Amino acid sequence: MSNFNLKGRSLLTWLDWEPDEIRYLLKLSRKVKKEQQEGKIKKRFKGKTVALLFEKRSTRTRCAFETAIGEEGGHPVFLSTADIQLGSKETVEDTARVLGRMFSGIQFRGFKQSTVETLAKYSGVPVWNGLTDSFHPTQVLADIMTLEEEFGDVRGKKLVFSGDGRNNVARSLIIICSKLGVNISIITPGELNPDSALIEKCTPFARKSGAVITVSPDTDEVKGAHAIYTDVWASMGEEDKKEGRVKLLTPYRVNSALMQKTGLKNTIFLHCLPAIRDEEVSTDVIDGPESRVWDEAENRKHTIKAIMIATLGLGKNS
Ligand code: CP
Ligand code: NVA
Repeated sequence: MSNFNLKGRSLLTWLDWEPDEIRYLLKLSRKVKKEQQEGKIKKRFKGKTVALLFEKRSTRTRCAFETAIGEEGGHPVFLSTADIQLGSKETVEDTARVLGRMFSGIQFRGFKQSTVETLAKYSGVPVWNGLTDSFHPTQVLADIMTLEEEFGDVRGKKLVFSGDGRNNVARSLIIICSKLGVNISIITPGELNPDSALIEKCTPFARKSGAVITVSPDTDEVKGAHAIYTDVWASMGEEDKKEGRVKLLTPYRVNSALMQKTGLKNTIFLHCLPAIRDEEVSTDVIDGPESRVWDEAENRKHTIKAIMIATLGLGKNS
């Protein structure tokens, strides 16, 4: 496999990653998935210890990191902010310096994007963003992997995100799709449009890759969609906004009528999970034949493993 030297890189958002680097991670993800399916797992993380910092709850991201590290012979250390000094008694900078002396890499899930950026700046080891209020980059790599498993080459395919267009998942989808040539449409009421600064940043990526970025309140925009994606209407930390969101987003619920509106027979349904059934997605769709959410969740592990292998510099001969 052609190699990119990604040793020492952090993944904070996909904004500073080249499309070929992202495609290399996808290729490595497919390879480690196949290895696992064939029971031929290597011990690439032997002797490596990774810190997993969580300010917010997690099932998939935590388990993806822990199982990926564990099965390749490494040791994950789960640290919730209820247990450590991060940002309360000690500055983020000082915590970063200390963790960087002890761990090979650091995963952070929490509120502020500036925290994960500070950890990367001061720790001296690769830092992986496992979700902040602003971005969820590891998630969308698994989403693209799932799309590739279904359609092969994803260039020119259309992904529609229906829901809260300004949330971390929607914003990360805009970045990765614009880099990889996937047409991305965000359908959302105007109040929840993704910020124009992000769209401006991604427009040159889209121009280069041939992707089209669309933001629209019109659900007819699902026409021709190869995938319809949704996420919870109120993200972690926004629980007080729930009532207003239900009012705004009910017309954007993904149900069988919306799935059929694509006009394609092979449209798939994606969701980062956790899902609130019969809120942002109807139960018949998430449990239906078009749903790929369990593959998507499994792919979190393979993509996270690939990200760690590459950025810890263990990708030689991978
Ligand atoms: N999709 C996702 O990040 O799930 P968790 O919140 O369970 O980690
Ligand atoms: N937007 C959601 C994603 C959960 C994986 C949240 O931030 O809660």
